[in-house]
Amino acid sequence: MELQEVIIRRRTIRDFSDKPINQEIINEALQSGLHAPSYNHLRQWDFILVKDLKKRLALTQTEEMIEEITDELKRSFEGHEFIAKEMYLDAIPKQKRMLLTAPELLVIVYKPKTQINDSKRTYDLNCLASVWCCIENILLSLSERDVFGVTFIPQNTPAVKKVLNIPQELEVAAIIPFGYKAHDAKIIPQKEVMLEETIHINNW
Ligand SMILES: Cc1cc2nc3c(=O)[nH]c(=O)nc-3n(C[C@H](O)[C@H](O)[C@H](O)COP(=O)(O)O)c2cc1C
Repeated sequence: MELQEVIIRRRTIRDFSDKPINQEIINEALQSGLHAPSYNHLRQWDFILVKDLKKRLALTQTEEMIEEITDELKRSFEGHEFIAKEMYLDAIPKQKRMLLTAPELLVIVYKPKTQINDSKRTYDLNCLASVWCCIENILLSLSERDVFGVTFIPQNTPAVKKVLNIPQELEVAAIIPFGYKAHDAKIIPQKEVMLEETIHINNW
């Protein structure tokens, strides 16, 4: 498949079929992740595949996860752009379910140069930026094989680290439920952004 086709094909999916994923597809994706650029050349990333349902349940208990859309929640998105509101109202009640039911759950761990609380400049976040290059490579590689995921960003990373015995000096970048799409998987249209409106030559 052409690279451009894979890039366009990659979409966030939160509704998965039960079909298991061949370990070779997973390994290929993680290997692609390890080819991403990293700011210090060290690729200090680890991958945890969480298969144990009890562990997954413990992950869902590290923060509040809303399972139902209330009128109050709907109202809280009133000022949002329609397309963003549509995404949030679809995504919010699926967070817990996707962590529990996705055929695979991948936790991406990285070594921060500067602890998040001490970061003051973009430069301090180079490790986080690098691990996101790794994440995108993984998502692209999976989508080439018809496998899709969603990047869930935990809010209580100390609790996530505790559940998974992650060493103190490391940090969690994202939790990625992934699998084949359910037949009725919801895909929110991407916002169309015109290149001509975003490109600047020499100055803003
Ligand atoms: C940094 C980042 C954080 C995100 N956090 C979440 C999240 O916590 N839960 C979720 O369901 N989706 C999350 N997403 C997925 C976005 O909602 C999704 O990428 C966006 O709606 C665009 O859709 P697309 O990926 O299909 O283009 C996140 C994406 C990014 C890049």
